[in-house]
Amino acid sequence: MRVVVDCDPGQDDAIAIAVAAHRCELVGIVSVAGNVGLEHTTHNALVLSQLLATEGLHVPVHAGAAGPLVGDTYDAAHVHGESGLAGAVLPELTGSLASDDGAGFLVKASRQHDDLWLIAIGPLTNVAHAIQRDPGFTGRLAGISIMGGGTVGNATAAAEFNIYADPEAAEIVLGSGARIVMCGLDLTRQVNVTQAMVDEVAALPNAFGPFCAGFLQAYLDRVRDLTGASGEAALHDPCAVLAITDPALFQMRPREVKVECLGRHTRGMTLVDQRPWARGGNVEWCETIDAEPALRLIVDSIAAAP
Ligand code: RIB
Ligand code: CA
Repeated sequence: MRVVVDCDPGQDDAIAIAVAAHRCELVGIVSVAGNVGLEHTTHNALVLSQLLATEGLHVPVHAGAAGPLVGDTYDAAHVHGESGLAGAVLPELTGSLASDDGAGFLVKASRQHDDLWLIAIGPLTNVAHAIQRDPGFTGRLAGISIMGGGTVGNATAAAEFNIYADPEAAEIVLGSGARIVMCGLDLTRQVNVTQAMVDEVAALPNAFGPFCAGFLQAYLDRVRDLTGASGEAALHDPCAVLAITDPALFQMRPREVKVECLGRHTRGMTLVDQRPWARGGNVEWCETIDAEPALRLIVDSIAAAP
């Protein structure tokens, strides 16, 4: 399966990129401002491309949008740290950017590769720009697998972070007619980091395992501090990779999902039509995941890295 990942690394984005590199043919990474500013998300994407390189071949990284279509940036540095990968020991960079036109790369990649899946795990700004630049963009894709939204919120009581950070972009993407698979918080909160998992990853004999253990431990500790011991440190973004590489682990159904852009208290909310008589929909909404095999696939992907 050939994929491009559009992301805002971001601790869980880093894991998602490792899963994509292991389970797919990863032909490009595009950064977007989200968890932290574009400078840091781009730096982190280059670090991950460097650490995941095999036989000297690294995945090209393209920098995307520095902010949303409308309004100011909104970040999650309080979770991921100022660098975006709190707890990780970042190596000196050896690689450089392939371009600073992430949206242009997305359009070009859709022309170069048949059956290309776009895995979007940050704010959807770059994807919206690509659609605005080339209305035929989504028709050429096999589909878009999104981590975002939910019937509950995390950035606010109503809105999930990726959608809240750029609601107008999400509205464009959800209305584009693309085939969309969507993992909202209802799904991703079923896949949580545990101390046992962090310890297992820390003990892996490769370099990437201990690298991940550093930021996974920081993520687990931070979420517990922020939400109390009951808080789960969900591995949100890898779910959007597994939803297309391992769909048998999921239960999905068509749902109509709309984005609220005007609500005084609900801006960025995804309204998921779950009425029993509702038929059809614009997304394949992921409802459940078999978390144990999913976590095993995630650890296996980390173990398979250099
Ligand atoms: O709400 C979770 C999402 O927001 C994840 O993609 C995480 O990386 C942050 O971007
Ligand atoms: Ca993310």
